[in-house]
Amino acid sequence: MRSDSKAVLGEGSTDGIGPWLDGPGGRVVLVSHDLADAEIYCRWFNDPELHHYNCDRRFTAFSLDETVDLLRRSWIETGPDCRRFAVRLLGTGRLVGQADIYQIHADSRRARVGLEIGEKDLWGRGLGREVLGMLLEEAFGSLDLHRVEALIYSFNLRSVRLFERAGFRREGVLRERLARDGGFHDEYIYGLLAREWRERRFP
Ligand SMILES: CC(C)(COP(=O)(O)OP(=O)(O)OC[C@H]1O[C@@H](n2cnc3c(N)ncnc32)[C@H](O)[C@@H]1OP(=O)(O)O)[C@@H](O)C(=O)NCCC(=O)NCCS
Repeated sequence: MRSDSKAVLGEGSTDGIGPWLDGPGGRVVLVSHDLADAEIYCRWFNDPELHHYNCDRRFTAFSLDETVDLLRRSWIETGPDCRRFAVRLLGTGRLVGQADIYQIHADSRRARVGLEIGEKDLWGRGLGREVLGMLLEEAFGSLDLHRVEALIYSFNLRSVRLFERAGFRREGVLRERLARDGGFHDEYIYGLLAREWRERRFP
């Protein structure tokens, strides 16, 4: 838990930003979501390319009011079975993505993870790797989970590469699970165990 948000995120950053995680890469922090960012999230929700890689509902326009509602109900007021984070650049506090640990199953000590770098000009610069590493440190560290899972569309090659580099194994193919662009596409289920992450982390 950190409380000196202005010192690290920079002037103009939000006060009362809440608990957060520092990453080993030193470029981003994971912090609580803020309603003041609704316009940015709304832009991401209405981006067909982000939707293509990250969402299985039909692509429809998302209004600012709907975004505020979703942010408040699902991303800010979360239940005990998920941790949802905004990804901000250190120094400027710029919001660049979002990430979560969800479907936390306390008895079996497992959960799913997901992430998105919403600012596409920042893709391919290692931020996804840094964020995933932070999620996994939290999942296997403070949350003491035994297993972490991820569902990834077969055509999302960047994400496949990212998760495999982190040591996730492709454990199954959910055949033709996603209807998109007039066809059906496979979805992969990936899994990583705590001991596998500790042995290796990102090489
Ligand atoms: C997937 C995503 C989070 C990755 O973040 P990123 O910052 O772009 O990823 P990184 O720069 O850390 O690169 C991750 C790996 O993908 C590789 N990669 C980059 N561009 C690639 C491409 N076009 N095709 C295949 N691999 C690619 C990188 O080389 C890196 O592998 P390496 O460590 O072996 O070099 C980001 O692209 C994103 O938000 N995409 C849209 C939403 C999404 O797909 N979310 C995941 C849903 S499961």
